[in-house]
Amino acid sequence: MKFRAIMGALCAAGLMCGVSAVQAAESVEVLHWWTSGGESKAVGVLKDDMTKQGYTWKDFAVAGGAGAAAMTALKTQVISGNAPTAAQIKGPLIQDWAEQGVLVPIDAAAGDWKKNLPPEIDKIMHADGHYVAAPFSVHRVNWLYINKAALDKAGGKVPTTWPEFFAVADKMKAAGIQPIAMGGQPWQDLTLWEDVVLSQGAGFYKKALVDLDEKTLTSDQMVGVFDTVRKIQGYFDAGRTGRDWNLATAMVINGKAGMQFMGDWAKGEFANANKKAGSDYICAAVPGTEKAYTFNVDSFVFFQQKGQKTATPGQLALAKTIMSPDFQEQFSLYKGSIPVRLGVSMAKFDDCAKKSYADEQVAIKSGGYVPSLAHGMAQPDAAAGAISDVVTKFMNSQEDSKTAVAALAKAAKTK
Ligand code: BGC
Repeated sequence: MKFRAIMGALCAAGLMCGVSAVQAAESVEVLHWWTSGGESKAVGVLKDDMTKQGYTWKDFAVAGGAGAAAMTALKTQVISGNAPTAAQIKGPLIQDWAEQGVLVPIDAAAGDWKKNLPPEIDKIMHADGHYVAAPFSVHRVNWLYINKAALDKAGGKVPTTWPEFFAVADKMKAAGIQPIAMGGQPWQDLTLWEDVVLSQGAGFYKKALVDLDEKTLTSDQMVGVFDTVRKIQGYFDAGRTGRDWNLATAMVINGKAGMQFMGDWAKGEFANANKKAGSDYICAAVPGTEKAYTFNVDSFVFFQQKGQKTATPGQLALAKTIMSPDFQEQFSLYKGSIPVRLGVSMAKFDDCAKKSYADEQVAIKSGGYVPSLAHGMAQPDAAAGAISDVVTKFMNSQEDSKTAVAALAKAAKTK
């Protein structure tokens, strides 16, 4: 059942329309899905900062990449009147939760945010003219990670087009290296698929996945997108079913596989394994997407506590800390992202993060800065979920591209 339907059913049943948890003011319960090596280090920075300020951190981590399991757990908590102090929510879902009347505004913590956030991100943090979410960092989704030794052994070069990519993959195969490490969850399928959509140009991506334009969704070009995904699948190993993204990243880290399509939270895993960008691994834009940038901005929303409609001191402290320059720097260094707050020095960051920052500036100016569908930034839950179902069905069956495209156009209409 989709978000709105669940919340609607609960309100109708008189169970939950705005009640929340009983929390001691000094303790902050934080629901998130940052459980991999790099992710845990990153969220640990927030825990330490809050602890130093005198708050007790109650960790509510729900494992599962991209947060599907965490979102289910969150609904259960809110329904049962145990809303956490804060939860990792992003994109249009922020407005969905705000509409349920269960969030608190955090304007009191956000005095200098407007001038320190890119306007398109500042807007996402608002509901009804108030700040209701605090942003952590910017992840770029359209990355290809390559094991440098595997690339050298295969005698390949960093691919910038799909033909070049398939040439490298063939060379790796011939050299006895598994070309692609791929995980096996719907969100990972969708991440790869949206990369291929983006390779058709940011304009095509926007029309297809932001505007849900039917002509674009049913175009021959979209049929070609599915064909390319099918061809890429030919380079997966047989063991991907159910595999977590970070285990796929580990395959590239330890040389068991050559490449992985993944957002730059994967870089947090390389960093956690003491691998160096440039010498141990290469981060390249997905072939054909050099000038574009799919953004994914993590944020926390804050739930009413004890039925109070205003933020607690702990909630305001959390929001302020998240947007403070020092936190923004240290969090992203561990997480693989770049600070969302403007003006934070990039001096301590690696070349991949510097490239992410530089490419972001270019993409913003050229219109190539687009929200990631796979990571909850482009569409409400219902349409994104329906599109995800189409892509996953295609990738886990022998369905032909034309059938998938017809299903896609239908899925895009889901409200
Ligand atoms: C989140 C990242 C997280 C990744 C894997 C993404 O949707 O934005 O913060 O690291 O999922 O769990």
